[in-house]
Amino acid sequence: MSRQQQILAEIGIRPLWQLRNPAIVEALVEEAAAQPAPAQAASLEQPAPTPAAMPAPTAADVHPQETSQPAPPAVINISDWDDLHAQVAACQQCQLARTRSNTVVGRGNRQARLLIIGEAPGEQEDLQGLPFVGKAGHLLENMLAAAGFDSARDVYICNLLKCRPPGNRNPAQDEIVKCQRFLQWQIESVDPELIVAVGRFAAQSLLQSTASLGNLRGKQHQYGRYPVLVSFHPAYLLRSPGEKAKAWQDWCRVRQLLQK
Ligand code: URA
Repeated sequence: MSRQQQILAEIGIRPLWQLRNPAIVEALVEEAAAQPAPAQAASLEQPAPTPAAMPAPTAADVHPQETSQPAPPAVINISDWDDLHAQVAACQQCQLARTRSNTVVGRGNRQARLLIIGEAPGEQEDLQGLPFVGKAGHLLENMLAAAGFDSARDVYICNLLKCRPPGNRNPAQDEIVKCQRFLQWQIESVDPELIVAVGRFAAQSLLQSTASLGNLRGKQHQYGRYPVLVSFHPAYLLRSPGEKAKAWQDWCRVRQLLQK
């Protein structure tokens, strides 16, 4: 059994993302390495978004009644990981506190070189208190394993929001703003070499952009001092398996950047 198959067997999931020919991984990584460095996003011509100025997604996704909420102070005021977990668990800053079963802070290695940021907990995450443990999480695990990453050792995974939006609706702007200091603290504490934002909400919010995911993919962005790549949300890939080949290119790029 290959190492990848062992990993998948270990985590007890069906290989949704099955690598049929391991030589392809190496070929793709070599091909990616031979290409010129990824284009720097246009946004780099302006100052990169900083942790103190985390953005919000497009107006179309904002709940109108919530747009007038004041932004919270940019003071982070979290002393350590235990304090982060305690503050998130006690948080009543937005309406999601009323409907959540559990808060979802993050999982993985708090000193990882790779930080993955998703959107918000779904049903399984809300029940288990951990990010990406449902179907989308299984696909993410498979993609990471196929790209040579051990999710417990090599990666820290978290979300923009720490509580589940009811019915998995899109995050509202005030929810993103009120949750942002938790994510900022996580980014600065993990201090990764690379951030991967999966999905439009994570990408647009982190990069203060209204560009489409298609536009943000394939470029290297910057969030403060952190390089950022953007890829598809695994839930989208489950609905649109034809896009998996592009996602695979993204993960090869991630691997290539971290191999340097
Ligand atoms: N989707 C996300 O963006 N995050 C999760 O934790 C689960 C599903």
